[in-house]
Amino acid sequence: MARFLPIFATQIIFLLSSFTKIQVHGYAKTMNKNLMGLKKEKLTHFQIHWHDIQSGQNPTSISVVRPPTNTSTNSFGIINMIDNPLTAGPEMSSKMVGRAQGFYALASQEEVGLLMAMNFAFIEGKYNGSSITVL
Ligand SMILES: *[C@@H]1O[C@H](CO)[C@@H](O)[C@H](O)[C@H]1NC(C)=O
Ligand SMILES: *[C@@H]1O[C@H](CO)[C@@H](O)[C@H](O)[C@H]1NC(C)=O
Repeated sequence: MARFLPIFATQIIFLLSSFTKIQVHGYAKTMNKNLMGLKKEKLTHFQIHWHDIQSGQNPTSISVVRPPTNTSTNSFGIINMIDNPLTAGPEMSSKMVGRAQGFYALASQEEVGLLMAMNFAFIEGKYNGSSITVL
């Protein structure tokens, strides 16, 4: 279970405030708000890649709580703190646009039930200095 979350790609749609035309800002693009029936709100589509590195010399995801091995078969109770790179492309070598800082935990005794709470702290482009909190 040490590699329980492999590197994976995240596509997230967030509602921010209001644009009428589609504008592309690197990893984020504004979208036609009429598609979602929005009035005052803006619609922005972020496409970023979230890297959960649990081993090697510089892990960005560390296990801070490990449950006793005999309590459950599905790793219930594991908690990892993360400071994970967010990149523009799927490769680690692609441009870093921010960091995902927070934690995830296995919260179900019956199956694999994931709880995640994190801030996406952007360091690039239009959203440099901004953050989005994801629960
Ligand atoms: C788990 O192991 C500990 C230490 O060996 C023991 O005290 C405890 O009763 C065990 N718990 C279960 C649910 O088996
Ligand atoms: C992001 O903002 C910080 C603080 O204002 C600034 O130092 C940095 O150069 C900016 N990065 C980019 C890529 O614009």
